[in-house]
Amino acid sequence: MGRRWMTLLWSLALAGAGSWTLAAGEAAEVNVYSSRSHYGSEPAMEAFTKKTGIRINSLGGSDHEVFERLRAEGDRTKADVLITVDAGNLWNAARHGLLARVDSPALKASVPPHLRDPEGRWFGLTVRARTIMYSSARAKPAELSTYEALGDPQWKNRLCLRTSGYIYNQSLLAAWIKRYGEAKVEQIVAGWVRNTPTLINGDTKILEAIAAGQCDVGITNTYYLARLLHKDPRFPVAPFWADQQGAGTHVNISGAGVTAHARNRENAVKFIEYLSGVEAQNLIADGNFEFPANPKVKPHEILLRWGTFKADDVNVAAAGEFQAAATRLADRAGYK
Ligand SMILES: [Fe+2]
Repeated sequence: MGRRWMTLLWSLALAGAGSWTLAAGEAAEVNVYSSRSHYGSEPAMEAFTKKTGIRINSLGGSDHEVFERLRAEGDRTKADVLITVDAGNLWNAARHGLLARVDSPALKASVPPHLRDPEGRWFGLTVRARTIMYSSARAKPAELSTYEALGDPQWKNRLCLRTSGYIYNQSLLAAWIKRYGEAKVEQIVAGWVRNTPTLINGDTKILEAIAAGQCDVGITNTYYLARLLHKDPRFPVAPFWADQQGAGTHVNISGAGVTAHARNRENAVKFIEYLSGVEAQNLIADGNFEFPANPKVKPHEILLRWGTFKADDVNVAAAGEFQAAATRLADRAGYK
């Protein structure tokens, strides 16, 4: 391509950039490794490009694939941004030196402190609540209270749980270890195990098992229920906000960080700042049925029907810090 064409393209990019300016030496693009494949076509990304002229190139994969790729590529990586589910995964990426510190007043203003890395290497963009789900036909909210009470004899053979090896449950136990200490968490898990839970590998499968009568209560992330309700408003499962008299319902995040070797760092920061802002948060929240991380933004209408709830405000970094302890604890308690 001739120099004249390059110059023309460059001026077009600048023209598209509106009030944004391109950082010197950076291309008008941001390369994103995302374990959230649907973020690739998400309206928030398109809106960012429209507003700034900065193109988003998204490469998808499972959380594990994306992490391994980033680690293997080291300083040769093209990735500027990592987007992934679960604070445990973000914490792990930071621990391996794959994420850079970002000191951004905009991100600090948009994302509450407990939903981001205290050292500024990753930021929650959406919030997933992991709470009690019950059959609207065979259980009543008045019978429910805490996660621990799912270990009461009345739930014997009526409980469905996800296998303990999955990161959502590791993070749940890890956050509790930080809050309560291991002895108390082991007591909670031992109670569940006494009730001989049906172990199922998949949150949606748990909800379907409750609907089908295989069990009456379970624990899953709320967006899986929202998706099912979106397809069938009469799906016979409802959420119960656990631990409202205590620490609050467990929440986790899906979030993003700028990579340690980002070549388009300034634009990468702009991109994450944009995703945490009100405009993008509205677009994201309407698309994925998670709760917006930015408290100024209203959740999707299906979520609003479930009412407000108190969320545990322990820093989600606990998911990483206590992940190994959580795995050992599950083993000790006989939670497979
Ligand atoms: Fe999920």
